[in-house]
Amino acid sequence: MLDKINTLKAEIDALVAADAAQVEALRIKYLSKKGIIPALFNDFRTVPADQKRAIGVALNDLKNYATDKINGLRESLESQSAGSEGLDLTRSAAAVRLGTRHPLSLVREEIIDIFRRLGFTVAEGPEIEDDWHVFSSLNFADDHPARDMQDTFFIQRNPDVLLRTHTSSVQSRVMENTQPPIRIICPGRVFRNEAISARAHCFFHQVEALYVDRNVSFADLRQTLLYFAREMFGPDTQIRLRPSYFPFTEPSAEMDISCNLCGGKGCAFCKGTGWVEILGCGMVDPNVLDACGIDSKEYTGFALGMGIERITNLKYQVKDLRMFSENDTRFLDEFTAAH
Ligand code: DAH
Repeated sequence: MLDKINTLKAEIDALVAADAAQVEALRIKYLSKKGIIPALFNDFRTVPADQKRAIGVALNDLKNYATDKINGLRESLESQSAGSEGLDLTRSAAAVRLGTRHPLSLVREEIIDIFRRLGFTVAEGPEIEDDWHVFSSLNFADDHPARDMQDTFFIQRNPDVLLRTHTSSVQSRVMENTQPPIRIICPGRVFRNEAISARAHCFFHQVEALYVDRNVSFADLRQTLLYFAREMFGPDTQIRLRPSYFPFTEPSAEMDISCNLCGGKGCAFCKGTGWVEILGCGMVDPNVLDACGIDSKEYTGFALGMGIERITNLKYQVKDLRMFSENDTRFLDEFTAAH
């Protein structure tokens, strides 16, 4: 009997339980009325009288030991689950504060998206350019006063290295390397030597579009412009084209849209005219096609260029251009909902 008690004690010593149900199962196995230890107490009757004392002590010992052990297992499980109460695994994670997209990026992506639906793909070119791609290939004569239209930043003392004044430079780069059909949209930063004010900055952003193929006509240009204006500013938007001049297009035009603030009735924003100017455009001058290695007898094309700041101002009424480059998060946070 003593041997049996000692073996049981070692067995109980090694008990483990993973949850409350297992603890309860152990309690039933060892301590319940029909459990192993009460059964030993029943057998106690058969123990010879001279051993009764020693075995009685050992049996009581075993019972206490088993009770303590099983209570201990229960308590340690309870304290573990109490400890994990502060750790609610079903709780949603703390919100990570994300930055906002810059309004100019939002508008640039929207413009690209609209032209992408018409089959245009994005093309990019360098910001530090040479005279050929910014001016000469685009039909600006050497002494053409149009070069003064855009106050150019020259780099070093070399007049051939300059910061591009418009993204039209990407047109000539692509035409030099690709034969039609060409359908590209070129977003990018441009630079002009202007005093910084609410209405002018020394750098800003443009998007250029170019379409060259057989039989591209002014009607194609007009329809593309109308589609763009309505996708960008809403289905009721009207457009109007006014004759203009650019060295690289002939004929050239400037496009107005019906004022998106007053719907064309006339307000302070459109200075009472009902129209606001948004971009320049025209048919690619044959001289430009030829200068870039595209046969102007076979191909025609249209081009257009717009300022992203201008479009953003129209969409979001940003009054001061400087806001776009000051990184004031109070301003930038206003565009969170526009994502
Ligand atoms: N490059 C012109 C500018 O910076 C904008 C422009 C006008 C681009 C007419 C064009 C165009 O492609 O056809 O003012």
